[in-house]
Amino acid sequence: MALSLKFNEKYIDKYIGSDEITAEIIKHKQLFDDGYACKIGPDDRKGWFKVDNNADENMLKRIHKVADKIRSQSEVLVVIGIGGSNRGSMAAVECLKYAHPDSPEIIWAGNNVSATAIERVMDRIGNRSVSVYVIAKDFNTVEPGLAFRVFRQYLKQRYGDEYKERVTVCGSEGKGNLLELSQKYGFGFLPFPEEVGGRYCILTPVGLLPCAVAGIDIDVLVQSARDTEKYLKTVDAANNPAVRYAVARNLLMKKGFYVESMVVNEPDLEFFARWWLQEFGETEGKIQECIYPDYYVNSEDLHSIGQYVQQGRRFITETYLRCFKTHPDKKVPSSDVEDGFGYLEGKPYDSVNRAVYNGSLKAHYDDGVPCLEFICPDNPDEKLFGELFYFFLFAVYMSANYIGVNPFNQDGVENYKKNMYDLLEKFTKK
Ligand code: PA5
Repeated sequence: MALSLKFNEKYIDKYIGSDEITAEIIKHKQLFDDGYACKIGPDDRKGWFKVDNNADENMLKRIHKVADKIRSQSEVLVVIGIGGSNRGSMAAVECLKYAHPDSPEIIWAGNNVSATAIERVMDRIGNRSVSVYVIAKDFNTVEPGLAFRVFRQYLKQRYGDEYKERVTVCGSEGKGNLLELSQKYGFGFLPFPEEVGGRYCILTPVGLLPCAVAGIDIDVLVQSARDTEKYLKTVDAANNPAVRYAVARNLLMKKGFYVESMVVNEPDLEFFARWWLQEFGETEGKIQECIYPDYYVNSEDLHSIGQYVQQGRRFITETYLRCFKTHPDKKVPSSDVEDGFGYLEGKPYDSVNRAVYNGSLKAHYDDGVPCLEFICPDNPDEKLFGELFYFFLFAVYMSANYIGVNPFNQDGVENYKKNMYDLLEKFTKK
């Protein structure tokens, strides 16, 4: 099986040749062999490496059962979670939900501590029936913890004691107390696998449940991820697009390109770019010599930051995701107003979007911006998302190994939490 995703190295040729990438992979053969065997990094975080560890037939059945219950009882599912724990499902749901207009709406909460934001969620729910899904591995993160409090109170007011039938929690079976709370109060429970960290959890119950509720075919998505896993683990490293991408981006960094921006031309893919940013930013940002990930949503961002990319300081690599949602029937309408856009009359919108994509890629490349590209089939679906998810999990793992950081921890974020606890007097007041 080959991937439907194609990695294009052509537009970095002013800085790096394909032969240099190959030579670097051969030079570090042992490192990549160890990566293929998932030997690098703490053993208690490697569960994601094999899709079937946490998304085999039995687990998928269990997820479907919970999803079916939520779908039958609610018009809205509020997903409470933050960071790695919700960005994967957000990426898939916010892109694929339009194909399932009759499914419950997913609303995201517990990803900030803004009182206004929580009010907005209540307003959006309105009178519609609602369930909540709380994701919190050890159940000690403030954002989901507080949102769960607010929603317990809200659900009790609306549904009385039956409220518990509308709550599913996803947490560790070993640490924290979500499992215990679910048993004591009768909430539904799905396991947050012990050996999978937040940002590696999309192909586990954590990320798959919201997708299933939104009508996404998780069986197809997971099968595609399994196929991708098989491909990436069998193709030799020098021909492995995930390894080549991991090496290419870091060779560019060594030439001064410290920023890598993912570029998408479909706004529905913005949340995928945000997932990608989470993966690379939180995984690699632990040493000075590492890439800062960013993303642009074009054509809008061509009218803002695009100017900087074109002619500002030359330290940005762009990673284009050539992936369009097509609407061949949507054409530029005729007009009896002399507005100056007559030259586009009758043209499909799609071709204008492709012209923007090709035009900006060429302009940036011509001016000296190294551009990596992932070419995807049109109209992203479950199959593509399964592929994208496993591909970039594998790639970020390889990239982190290559620059020598622990792929699975994020100790730095504890510093802000300590300050916050001090300010909130966590340890002095009840
Ligand atoms: O990747 C990670 O581990 C983090 O981004 C976590 O997902 C995030 O901090 C939320 O953690 P928790 O699910 O424990 O509340």
